[in-house]
Amino acid sequence: EKGGYDHFMMKEIYEQPSVIKDTYRGRLHAHEGLIQMAGIEDNLEKFLNADRILIVACGTSWHAGLVAEYIFEEFARIPVEVEYASEFRYRNPIISSKDIVIAISQSGETADTMAAIKLAKEHGAFVFGVCNVVGSSISRESHAGAYTHAGPEIGVASTKAFTTQITVLTMIALRLAKAKGTLSNSVFHAYLEELEIIPEKVKEALETNQVAQEIAAVFKDASNCLYLGRGYNFPVALEGALKLKEISYIHAEGYPAAEMKHGPIALIDEHMPVVVIAPKQGHYDKIVSNIQEIKSRSGKIIAVVTKGDTQVRELADYVIEIPETSDALSPLITTIPLQLLSYHIAVMRGCNVDQPRNLAKSVTVE
Ligand code: F6R
Repeated sequence: EKGGYDHFMMKEIYEQPSVIKDTYRGRLHAHEGLIQMAGIEDNLEKFLNADRILIVACGTSWHAGLVAEYIFEEFARIPVEVEYASEFRYRNPIISSKDIVIAISQSGETADTMAAIKLAKEHGAFVFGVCNVVGSSISRESHAGAYTHAGPEIGVASTKAFTTQITVLTMIALRLAKAKGTLSNSVFHAYLEELEIIPEKVKEALETNQVAQEIAAVFKDASNCLYLGRGYNFPVALEGALKLKEISYIHAEGYPAAEMKHGPIALIDEHMPVVVIAPKQGHYDKIVSNIQEIKSRSGKIIAVVTKGDTQVRELADYVIEIPETSDALSPLITTIPLQLLSYHIAVMRGCNVDQPRNLAKSVTVE
């Protein structure tokens, strides 16, 4: 049942190239320059007339929501707010019938997310669900939606659900961009083509497994770890830290790299591993100077870089090379080595990778 892998988590990490394909199959038509998703087509006017999109979710799904915020605003120029469902539901939020609420949930059963969408519906908002489990409570409670096709996710730590959520949300953003004309034709087509070949790049990124394992052996006894990223990869830093803490019980924090100097930099010494997501696209020069700041305080740098990178390699203690892709789609690739790194560290520490202590796969109580 684990398909020859030691743990469900590893099986699910390796399924990502194929489940991302399953998720875009029949929806992404790169050659025709089309995105077709029934839930969006049927409600296109609502999306186009929306004042803003509110995304509600918890945990890893909330991280996918943050990636979506960057993508929606960049591609479709629609204002987006991302909220923890638990905070949203209890703070008397301002919601109107001009709002679209996107609820993201792998299980479709998360109590806080469910309560958030009920509240949004009471205020007349249109609720769109992005769920993995077909027929789940949140998918039934939503007005419309789009399933991720990740298949059953057994490992408590979410992996393939995250990348397929980003895939669905990216397609929605592209569809809206097409309707609104907010991306030029050539850029729009380039994204469709890039998304189509993403599974191949994810497969290539899985080849970092060996080096992730070697790095894991060096840092398995750390008590803390910092994850830094900027732009589209800031949420990936949060997700990398969550993955490490939940399965290895190492305290980890994700930060936008530029925020480091506003506090976390005080933590840096020779015992602090810092994972920096530093692909060539995006804010490369800024990230390089953040790396220099860590290095001058003797922090141990593990950098995720684009294949062929030389500048970061000179500064970092360890590098993990990933294939090149556009800045906006890079979370689908940069996430992969971070999943692998967490997995190996947890295994080396003798942790129960698939069923971490105190955690449940679906959180049906608040
Ligand atoms: C992290 C993890 C949790 C879930 C969160 C939301 O690996 O699994 O943080 O992401 O409980 O669950 P869903 O997506 O089912 O609503």
